[in-house]
Amino acid sequence: MANEQMKEMPLVSICIPAFNNVTGIERLLHSIEQQDYPNIEINISDDSDSDEVEWLIGNSDIDVNYVHNTEKSGLVPNRNAAVRMKSDNAQFVKIMTGDDYFTNTDSLSKFVALLTENPQAAFAFSGTREVVRQGEGAEDETATDRAASDEFIEALQKDYRHLFLGNEIGSLGATIYRASEPAYIFDVKSRFASDMFLYFDILRAHPEFVFTKEPLVSFAVREKRLDNKVEEVPRVSRDYRAYDDYNYMYDKYHLWESEECRKYMIRNVLLPFNRSYAEAREKHISTTEYASEWMAFKLAGLSKENAEEGTGRIQKKDIQVEDYAGHIMRKLTGGALLTTKAEDEINTMVIGWGTVGINWNKKVFVTYVRENRHTISLLQKNKEFTVSVPMEKLTPTMLEICGRQSGRDIDKIKEAELTLIDPEVISVPAIKEVPLTLECKVLYMQKQDLSLFEDESIPGKLYPQDVDSKNTGANKDPHYAIYGEIVDAYIIKS
Ligand SMILES: Cc1cc2nc3c(=O)[nH]c(=O)nc-3n(C[C@H](O)[C@H](O)[C@H](O)COP(=O)(O)O)c2cc1C
Repeated sequence: MANEQMKEMPLVSICIPAFNNVTGIERLLHSIEQQDYPNIEINISDDSDSDEVEWLIGNSDIDVNYVHNTEKSGLVPNRNAAVRMKSDNAQFVKIMTGDDYFTNTDSLSKFVALLTENPQAAFAFSGTREVVRQGEGAEDETATDRAASDEFIEALQKDYRHLFLGNEIGSLGATIYRASEPAYIFDVKSRFASDMFLYFDILRAHPEFVFTKEPLVSFAVREKRLDNKVEEVPRVSRDYRAYDDYNYMYDKYHLWESEECRKYMIRNVLLPFNRSYAEAREKHISTTEYASEWMAFKLAGLSKENAEEGTGRIQKKDIQVEDYAGHIMRKLTGGALLTTKAEDEINTMVIGWGTVGINWNKKVFVTYVRENRHTISLLQKNKEFTVSVPMEKLTPTMLEICGRQSGRDIDKIKEAELTLIDPEVISVPAIKEVPLTLECKVLYMQKQDLSLFEDESIPGKLYPQDVDSKNTGANKDPHYAIYGEIVDAYIIKS
């Protein structure tokens, strides 16, 4: 193509954050090479551990600006590094990840046309072809085309904040945007929904966008994801990283100003995480609005429970912990279970002490565990735990095995024949036989100082210095007070 003709075509900066997916990058580069749109530059910021991608670039004829990060920067900073590599005269930014590739040879031309034909828009996106490859050859592929629904597009055109209610834009590779100075990048505070922050930033400044249902980009579903196919995409209401991101998004874009977003925030973020009225007020939500949504939420929970009955699935009834504080206190003295998990080891122990209450404006369960319990070593590695409170009482076997033996010596879950149930928010499982469950994330852990007791009879009785740490009853060890934020509370129904 003559240089003059090229000059009239906007320069597209294809920005690729790479991370250990050399097969994907190779497939992507191949699809870029085949594009009929000539005026492009390719930038790769490589966060890979190995030099496979570097080797690939070095041995191909394709012209690439390439940086292999000496220190791994992490998902979001690496994406930003790739975007920052764009030339000053680039007019469009097209981010592609190692899972994306162009569907056809004219895909990029079509992406460019979306923006050149709609000068008022700064952002465009297409449908996606999701390709699952189960074998070696192309004949082993199954492809599903996905695109945002008409309702979503219509709602987004009316108000870009609709994105908060569900992101149908799809994979990053399905988007293209106009370059600006500085270029739009990802918000580094985001841990879960960084794409949404980028879309929000662009759409807030330029609410008009262009969309085609045509799957201009293909997205390869990785084999690893296939293995995990049964795993549900985490819902906001169950994933803690999502919880943080949605809170931040709500604050950053003043989403309380939209009634729809406020309601979404209440139903899908605040109520499932048991947030208080005070916290709702911090989110510009009135007590009346919160209370009425709370009623609707409870009713919806009840009808979901009824619908699930008889399906054979493990059912959990969400509870407000304050409704059960008395029950928890009454049962604790007879024993509850405290379960921990680190590096695939799961351990449970009997606890008799514990406090349910409010601290740092959060609902907390404080548990008290002696310094040399095996549980402490697991908690130091993974700062999450579940508390399982019986509806009646722990069985003698549970008390004997989980209250008098250490996880250092035996597998208590196996010995006591306990059934583990997948958790909702954290990584530590619940226990079916002991159904009232609090999922907790450690906020604070402090070793108690035995010299500070006002009641001097306590150290002598409860911390006998002549009893070895290994003793499962009272011994010379001080307790750690472990303050866990209660991030989910429910009763398992068998
Ligand atoms: C009824 C009962 C209540 C208990 N309460 C506690 C407690 O609150 N804190 C504690 O550190 N140990 C408590 N224990 C002792 C632990 O359960 C026991 O030492 C256990 O073996 C520790 O397990 P681990 O070494 O696997 O962590 C209790 C034991 C019983 C039987």
